[in-house]
Amino acid sequence: MKLKIPESILEIDPYVPGKPIEELEREYGIRDSIKLASNENPLGPSPKAVEAVSKALLNLHRYPDGSGHDLIGKLADRVGVKPQNIVIGNGSDDIIGILATTFLRPGHEAVMPRPSFLMYDIAVKCMGAKPITVPLKNLSMDLDAMAKAVTGKTRLVFICNPNNPTGTCVSAEALESFVKQLPGHVITVVDEAYIEFARDPECGSAMKMVKDYPVAALRTFSKVYGLAGLRVGYGVMPAEMAGLVNRVRHPFNVNSLAQAGALAALEDVDYVQMTLKLVHEGLDFMFASLKEMGIKCFPTQTNFFLIDMERNADEVYRQMLKEGVIVRSMTSYGYPEYIRITVGLPEENQRLLAALKKIRG
Ligand SMILES: Cc1ncc(COP(=O)(O)O)c(C=O)c1O
Repeated sequence: MKLKIPESILEIDPYVPGKPIEELEREYGIRDSIKLASNENPLGPSPKAVEAVSKALLNLHRYPDGSGHDLIGKLADRVGVKPQNIVIGNGSDDIIGILATTFLRPGHEAVMPRPSFLMYDIAVKCMGAKPITVPLKNLSMDLDAMAKAVTGKTRLVFICNPNNPTGTCVSAEALESFVKQLPGHVITVVDEAYIEFARDPECGSAMKMVKDYPVAALRTFSKVYGLAGLRVGYGVMPAEMAGLVNRVRHPFNVNSLAQAGALAALEDVDYVQMTLKLVHEGLDFMFASLKEMGIKCFPTQTNFFLIDMERNADEVYRQMLKEGVIVRSMTSYGYPEYIRITVGLPEENQRLLAALKKIRG
């Protein structure tokens, strides 16, 4: 092939998702494995969402509502903004991509924390723009350093609050003073994929800032609403920004099943409460048990957390796979001795602890 590939595409490190259970079982010839690697909701989907999706199946011969009228209307009510402030996406991944497509061109820069969610880097490079990464300080976003990294070329700044993979968050106050000092041409994208799990009241959402600043706050149905497979996310932003973003958004980016499922999930208050209880109890149990085992855990405001294995994390990952437990090695994120664990069902958490005990001997 004699393709002429753009340099920025060659620079992309492909996103590596958590290993699927089926793949592990095929490769290792084992059964009953568990996946605690992709920060999914272990409860299974909301029964109300499943019912709504089943009903929506009968209309599959029709295109989805490209304006997402009902879903956007309900979200606007919930958030306390106008429908014109909301953009829906095929997961929040999609919104990250659309924001990059709308606002970035070669020569532009986008500031982001490192390590953080890998899709920011990919979306920016896809547009031929330059990611400017700012290292975390004590596992937290260094907002001062990020503000200093902003130049006349900067168009986007990504904040992940709470941050994946470290679980740390910044306060609404810190976020507002950060945004306030940025030049008017810079959009701050605040990814709040895990914010519903935060127990620290300091952990602040950017939603309220949207009316005063060029801020886009992103949320997802993949985590606390348990609909990762359906692919729905949304962004709350100033109406003018949403209008521009909607020019770029594919009209049917959120399919009809996804719109129906998300609408129903919003109504399933019991499911969300059960999820939060499960995750918080799971975290407390695992932190106490790991502490007893002498393993250092880092505090988190999400449904996942880092532990320090004090040895090669890739090796720990492979040994855990043999025990039928999928976790994430943090080597490629710059922490060669840490692994990231997603909270599972109580029995899955027990399995994880037993496997860790076994591999430590
Ligand atoms: C910080 C962060 N943002 C966004 C996403 C993507 O979520 P979605 O499934 O809505 O695309 C993830 C997924 O793991 C994430 O960790």
